Amino acid sequence: MRLATTAFLLLALIAFPVAARQASDVVAPEANGPTTAPDGHQAGTAKSFMVVAAHPLAAEAGRAVLAEGGSAVDALVAVQLVLGLVEPQSSGLGGGGFLLHWSAEDGQLTSFDGRETAPAAAGPDLFLAPGGGPLPFFQAVVGGRSVGTPATLRLLEAAHRRQGRLPFARLAAPAIALAEGGFAVSPRLAHLIALEGDRLRHDPEAAAYFFDGASKPLAPGAILRNPAYAETLRRVVADGTDAFYEGEIAHDIVAKVRSDTANPGLLAESDLESYAVIEREPVCGPAFGYRVCGMGPPSSGPLAILQILALIEAKGFAALAPGSAAAWRLIGDASRLAFADRERWLGDPDRVDVPADGLIAPGYLAHRARLLDGPVLPGPVPSGTPGFDHGALRPLPGLGLTPELPSTTHVVIRDAAGNLLSYTGTIENGFGSRLMVHGFLLNNELTDFSFLPVDASGNAVANRVEGGKRPRSSMSPVIVFRDETPVLAIGSPGGSRIIGFVLQALIGRLAWGMTLQEALAAPHLLNRFGPFEVEAGTAATALAPDLGALGYKVEALDLNSGLAAIEIGPRGLIGAADPRREGTVAGD
Ligand code: GLY
Repeated sequence: MRLATTAFLLLALIAFPVAARQASDVVAPEANGPTTAPDGHQAGTAKSFMVVAAHPLAAEAGRAVLAEGGSAVDALVAVQLVLGLVEPQSSGLGGGGFLLHWSAEDGQLTSFDGRETAPAAAGPDLFLAPGGGPLPFFQAVVGGRSVGTPATLRLLEAAHRRQGRLPFARLAAPAIALAEGGFAVSPRLAHLIALEGDRLRHDPEAAAYFFDGASKPLAPGAILRNPAYAETLRRVVADGTDAFYEGEIAHDIVAKVRSDTANPGLLAESDLESYAVIEREPVCGPAFGYRVCGMGPPSSGPLAILQILALIEAKGFAALAPGSAAAWRLIGDASRLAFADRERWLGDPDRVDVPADGLIAPGYLAHRARLLDGPVLPGPVPSGTPGFDHGALRPLPGLGLTPELPSTTHVVIRDAAGNLLSYTGTIENGFGSRLMVHGFLLNNELTDFSFLPVDASGNAVANRVEGGKRPRSSMSPVIVFRDETPVLAIGSPGGSRIIGFVLQALIGRLAWGMTLQEALAAPHLLNRFGPFEVEAGTAATALAPDLGALGYKVEALDLNSGLAAIEIGPRGLIGAADPRREGTVAGD
C-alpha cells in the first residue's frame, strides 16, 4: 500500500487551487457555483473583533456593528438579515438555525435551538407516496408540504434579548438599505438561479423575483431590489418579532403554504404563534488536547464529530502520517460507525429519548473502537447500543430515510469584549421550498425528517415526522477550547456532509498542523455510509487508488463546503472563509 504523506497535503494546496472546481450536479444545486469571494478577502487577521460570513455585504454589515461597540449577537442579527437578502438561497427569515454562544463576561457556553418545527397537524405519513413508499425528493421539497414553522427571527430575538447591546433598528438598517437601494446579484447566486430552471418557477412570486422581465435567470451583477423584504423588516423593527409571528405576515405565510395547489402544506397560524426557541446544554468532548463543544440534539453533527474524533484517537491516529491512506481509512471507518449511530438514535430530544451522553461516553466509544481493529470495516456498519441516563427506547428505533442534500450558511463572530459565536442558519435545500412571501423564501426543513416512519424491521424511526417535532439536523456550529479558553469557532453548510467538512477542518488545524486557511481549503475526503467521497478536480483524487485497494468504493464529486472559522491566538484573531464560496473575513 502506498502511503501519502504531508507532502500530499502541501501538493494538494499548491497544485490544486480550489477555484479550479468542476460545475454541475443539477440534483444538488447548492453544491455548485462560482467559488471566489468577489473581493478576495477569504483570510485575514484582526486585533479584537472579526466576522466571517458567506457574503461580503453581510460580513461588512457585521463588521460595522462590531466597530460601533456592538456585541457578537448584535453583529449576527445584522449579518443574518443581510444574508437573507443577498444569499437568499441558503438562509433567512423563512428558515431557522442553531447558535452556539460563548459569553466572555460570565464564562458560559450556551446554545440556542432555533430549529423549525413540524406543523401540529403533520403526521408520520407526510412524505409517503400513495403506494406507501417515499415521495421523490423534489416532489416533497417544492411547495407547501415541506415548510416547517420559520424560526430565524425568534432565534435572533432570544439571543439579542440576552446578549444584545444595540437596538434592533440599528441592526436591521443595513439590510433595509440594501433591500431598498439594491445590491448586485453575486456570481454564485446567479449560477444557482440558472441551475434551478422550473423549480424556481413553481411560485410566481419567486419567479418574478429571480428571473428578469424576459423570464431569464438574473445575471451576475444585476441590481436586485426587494422592497417587500425591507417592509417586513420595518414592521419587525416597529412592532417586534410578533409582527412576523402574528397578524398579516403570519397569515400570508400560512396562506402561501396551504394554497399551493400542486403540493399544499399543513402549517397553521397557531404553529407560528406558539413557536419557541429552546436554550440547550451544548455537547462537549476531548480531542487532541483540546475540548470541542457544539450544538447537541436535535443536531446530530457535533455528537458525530465527537464520536469520530474519540474513535480515531483511541486507534493511534497520532502515529499515522497526515493525509495518508491509512489515516483516511481510520477517519472513514470511524465516520461510518458514527453515521450508523446517528441514523439509529438521533432525533428531537424533546420527542424521543436520545442517548446523547451515552453516545460519547468513554466506555461506549472504547467498545465501538474495537470494530476499527481490522483493515477496513466489511459491509454495512451496525449501530451500537449506547447507555441511557434516562428512559430507554423500547423497541429499538428504526433506521430512517432522509435525503439531506447540501444547503445552508455559516457565520462566526468575535466581538471586542471577547464574546464568540458560531451560528449555522438554513432554509434547507437551495431556495428552500421555492415559495416566497413578503420578500423571503420559505424553508423545506421538514424534508430533514425521515421520509419513512417505520423501518424494514417494523421499528419506528426516531426522526419520523410528528406534529410539533424538530427535524434532525447535521448543522455543526462548534467552538474549541484550550484550558477553558475558546481558541477556535467553526462551522459549515453542506447537509449531512457538514459533519465531514467540519471534522476534516478540525483535524487539519488541531492535529495536522495546517494553518486555518489551509485546513479550510484542503481537498475533501468524506465517508458517511460506505463509499469514500473524494473532491473532484483536487489532489484528493490521488488517494482513490489506495482507498480502492483497501476495499472502498470511491466516488469523485463536487464537495462544495462553505466553512467559516475564527481562531483566537496570542497575537490576535485569524479568520478564514472557504475558498469554494463567496465568504469573506472582516475585522478591525
Ligand atoms: N438542513 C440542513 C441541516 O439541518 O442539516
